Amino acid sequence: MKGIILAGGMGSRLFPVTKGVSKQLLPVYDKPMVYYPLSVLMQAEIKEILLISTPQDLGQYQRLLGDGSRWGINLSYLKQDKPNGLAEAFIIGENFIKNDSVCLVLGDNIFYGSDLISHLKFAINQINESQKATVFGVKVKDPQRYGVISFDEKGNPNEIIEKPKIPSSDYAVAGLYFYPNSVIEIAKTIKPSDRGELEITSVNQIYLNKKKLCVEKLDRGFTWLDTGTHESLLEASQFIQTIEKRQGLKVGCLEEVAFQNGWISKQLLIKTANSFKNTGYGEYLINKYSGNDN
Ligand code: TTP
Repeated sequence: MKGIILAGGMGSRLFPVTKGVSKQLLPVYDKPMVYYPLSVLMQAEIKEILLISTPQDLGQYQRLLGDGSRWGINLSYLKQDKPNGLAEAFIIGENFIKNDSVCLVLGDNIFYGSDLISHLKFAINQINESQKATVFGVKVKDPQRYGVISFDEKGNPNEIIEKPKIPSSDYAVAGLYFYPNSVIEIAKTIKPSDRGELEITSVNQIYLNKKKLCVEKLDRGFTWLDTGTHESLLEASQFIQTIEKRQGLKVGCLEEVAFQNGWISKQLLIKTANSFKNTGYGEYLINKYSGNDN
C-alpha cells in the first residue's frame, strides 16, 4: 500500500498567517502539523509516501522531511498547481501509486486514540479481502463544514453530501481514506463540483453506489481534530500539550513510530534526537530510549 499526504490548499481561513507559510508546516504544540498525518501513515505501516503541496511550498517540505530515510521510509514529492480538490491527489499520484492500493491523509488532520492502529488494520483488510474502500465517520457539532454521511433506517450509509446546508446526520467524513487501486480511474471520471473542485465526496459516493464503501465510525474515546481555523489550531495545540503532559507520551513522534515499527535502529533514533536535544521532543526520545532496556 502507498500513502499520500495532501498538504497544499490555500489555507485562506488562516490568513494572514498562511500568506507566508504553508498551513501544514505551522506548529501544533511542539512539532510541525504535517508530522501528525505522517505518523498515521507510518502507524499503518506504510513506507512509500508521496507528499503533494503547492509549487511554492514543496521546497520547504523537502527541507523539513528530506527523503524520509531517518525514519526508514521513502518520501517523494509532487506539486499540485492549483487547489483543484482532494481527488486530484490520485491523478497527480498515478505513477507513484502504480498498481497498489492507497491511503490518503489530509495534512491538517490529527487523529488520536488508543485504537487507531486497529482502525487502520481494519481498513487495510477491507481492501485486501474485498476490494472495499474505507472512510471514517466522526460525530461533530458542525457537520455542515464537512462531507456528511446519511444513514438509512437500518443504520447503513446511503449518501455522502459535501457541506450540506441542512445535514442529515452528525457524522462527518474525516480526512483519512483507504482505497483499492481503482481509485485512480474513478478520480479521472469525476467532474469538478460547483465550487470547481474534484471532490473526494464524489469518489466516495461512487464506491458507496457500488456497495464497495465501508464507513467505520470513530466514536467515544477517539479524537479527530482539523486545524484549519485559528481557533481549531490553538485548540489542537492545547489538546496535544495536555495529552503529552498528562501521559508523558508524545503524539506524532516520527522517530518513536519508526523505531517501534522496527524501521530504524536505536542508534539512529538517538542520533536524530541529539540533533534537537535542547527541546522537549529531543529530551523525550533521549530519556526514553538511551537506556539499555528498550
Ligand atoms: P481545506 O481545509 O478544504 O482547504 P484549505 O487548506 O485550502 O483551507 P481554506 O479552506 O482555509 O482555504 O483542505 C483540506 C486539506 O487538503 C488541507 O490540508 C489542504 C489540502 N488541500 C490540497 O492539498 N489541495 C486541494 O486542492 C485542496 C482543496 C485541499
